[in-house]
Amino acid sequence: MKISIIFHSETGNTKHLAECIAEGAREAGDIEIKLMPIDEVDASFVEASSAVFFGAPTYSACLSWQMKKFFDTTQLPLAGKLGGAFATAGYIGGGSDLGELVMIGAMLVQSMVVYSGGAFCGDPFTHFGAVAIQAGDEAQTARAKIYGTRLAQKAMELFS
Ligand SMILES: Cc1cc2nc3c(=O)[nH]c(=O)nc-3n(C[C@H](O)[C@H](O)[C@H](O)COP(=O)(O)O)c2cc1C
Repeated sequence: MKISIIFHSETGNTKHLAECIAEGAREAGDIEIKLMPIDEVDASFVEASSAVFFGAPTYSACLSWQMKKFFDTTQLPLAGKLGGAFATAGYIGGGSDLGELVMIGAMLVQSMVVYSGGAFCGDPFTHFGAVAIQAGDEAQTARAKIYGTRLAQKAMELFS
């Protein structure tokens, strides 16, 4: 199984969170994972992927405009794939939840199947997706790894 992780990152924080999520996803089994900045997307790998996770920094209490533009203009074949969202922010309460919800909305518009790895999976109680403040401390990155494992497990359950 293949999983794509597509992210926007200017100063490296969201890239770091993407790497933590990939590390967690690898623990779910025999999965090939490709991390891709939004301007270096490997369309054929995405097409072959069962799941695609999207990450963005929080700008003005929402997702970055670069990631919004990506969703507004992408021609990638995303329909039917499992989707998940993650975000970084400068501050707790800085708007990462709204950014994740806008990404989740965009995934639904793309006809994706969205999963949160959410609160009812137990501790850690992820709600809309993984979040970190800047690059995240040890606890935040540990939560992101578990998020990656949960989403990859769901992808295997649905598509293996
Ligand atoms: C233009 C701009 C707007 C930002 N707006 C917010 C904001 O509204 N709330 C917040 O918590 N952080 C905000 N931040 C901080 C970033 O979300 C944070 O530093 C993020 O981790 C950067 O991700 P990156 O290193 O992947 O680029 C903003 C940063 C920039 C550059």
